[in-house]
Amino acid sequence: MTRKQNTPIEISKDEFKRIGHQLIDSIADFLDGMDKKPVTTGESLQELQKHFNTSSLPENGRPAKDVVSEATTLLMNHSLLNGHPRFMGYITSSPAPIGMLADLLAAAVNPNVGAQILSPVATEIEKQTIKWLAEFIGVAGDYDGILVSGGNMANFTAFLAARTAKAPENIKEKGLTGASKSMIIYCSKTTHTWVEKAAVLFGHGSSSIRWIQTDSKNRMDNKLLEQAINEDLQKGHQPFIVIGTAGDVSTGVVDDLKGIAAICKSFDLWFHIDGAYGIPAAAVPELTQVFQGTSEADSIALDPHKWLFSPLEAGCTLVKNSSHLTDAFSSHPEYYNFNNNENGLTRNYYEYGLQNSRGFRALKVWLALQQVGKSGYVKMIREEMELSQLLFELAANHAELEAITRNLSITTFRYVPADGADKNETWLNTLNENLLNALQNNGEAFLSNASVNGKYCLRACIVNFRTSPQDIEEIVEIVVREGRKVYQELMQKS
Ligand SMILES: Cc1ncc(COP(=O)(O)O)c(C=O)c1O
Repeated sequence: MTRKQNTPIEISKDEFKRIGHQLIDSIADFLDGMDKKPVTTGESLQELQKHFNTSSLPENGRPAKDVVSEATTLLMNHSLLNGHPRFMGYITSSPAPIGMLADLLAAAVNPNVGAQILSPVATEIEKQTIKWLAEFIGVAGDYDGILVSGGNMANFTAFLAARTAKAPENIKEKGLTGASKSMIIYCSKTTHTWVEKAAVLFGHGSSSIRWIQTDSKNRMDNKLLEQAINEDLQKGHQPFIVIGTAGDVSTGVVDDLKGIAAICKSFDLWFHIDGAYGIPAAAVPELTQVFQGTSEADSIALDPHKWLFSPLEAGCTLVKNSSHLTDAFSSHPEYYNFNNNENGLTRNYYEYGLQNSRGFRALKVWLALQQVGKSGYVKMIREEMELSQLLFELAANHAELEAITRNLSITTFRYVPADGADKNETWLNTLNENLLNALQNNGEAFLSNASVNGKYCLRACIVNFRTSPQDIEEIVEIVVREGRKVYQELMQKS
């Protein structure tokens, strides 16, 4: 048999090895030297776009080694480095090196994890990964689920399962227009924007969300929650889901999950936990109390690409009863010969979520769980919470900083100039907003922002296994130094 030769996309075995070895060498150097580089280059988009403006679609191809080498240089020299020890913006983690290798291996084998016949072993790996994730956060037992691209998709998947389960009529057949009652969603006012997107995109409309006010600890006020449910029942609506957050995006607060579970039970509502960021901290023994009630959830969203350090993208929906997923997502088109359910052991993931063809996300999570183990993850998560506490304390003890909140691994604080006591909140908000922009441009550290009781805060979210106490001390120095500069600039303008 002769192999087909000379297709423009094939790379010979020796050439593949040469390019691959060179790429791995470059990545190893990139990772090793990352802490010496700026987190961001500070170059303008105009400068960046110069790399793209000149050429149109290539008519003819070029050697693979050249295009790979050029892309490597471009990406390594012009990217924001979220693997940098002083990156703590938003909730994007430093990626685990083993996840980088896993993605290469996954792409090489390229299983389609939509149907088990197309991905016999990859499907088993995804099943085990999901079981391990459930076990990690302490809800083992009968929780099952599916891997998705991230937090939004994990929450959407659970949301769709919930509304199918709780709709007043058969929603698959009649749709929302055939529903006799409006289906209502309950969540705290600090819930991530995914909920609004879900309500809009899945046909409920944003007015079907009841944004419940928070209590003095910034947790959903469960008394107001109960009151809102009763009011809607009196109006003839159909409450269907309550969303508790385990680590809110701005300040990391965990709602009173046990209290929410009890309310859901008494009203027969679906209890969903958005743990996209914070639920891995449930594995830390000291926090057992904080996460009480987790195992009563009907569904949980968690993101390995946040606090489990998986390279993007990896999210996960867990459900207590997996038939809720198949009830919502399963279909059996004629053109799929996927019905051979070997002794009930076959798992076709296209029946568990929104995607049909699916990539092999599980591998990077599965390998990292084996490399690190539960105890390794608990150690890293605990250390990152300690770093966040250190930042809070340093801010609290600094004459020009005000520490605002600290929950899980998120600290919020702001710059308050020593002689700025007479300045009002609006002025301080402008100062801190300008400061954040300056920090994000200068590349020494990358923070993001949060609004806490009307205060514009700097926000550090540490989901970064490379950050050390020294980085935290340096960040405090950088913030104060830049804060003084921004303050002078503001004073000159006024
Ligand atoms: C609590 C929470 N839920 C959902 C999301 C959305 O996750 P993703 O960006 O992975 O879609 C985030 C993102 O930060 C989050 O913090």
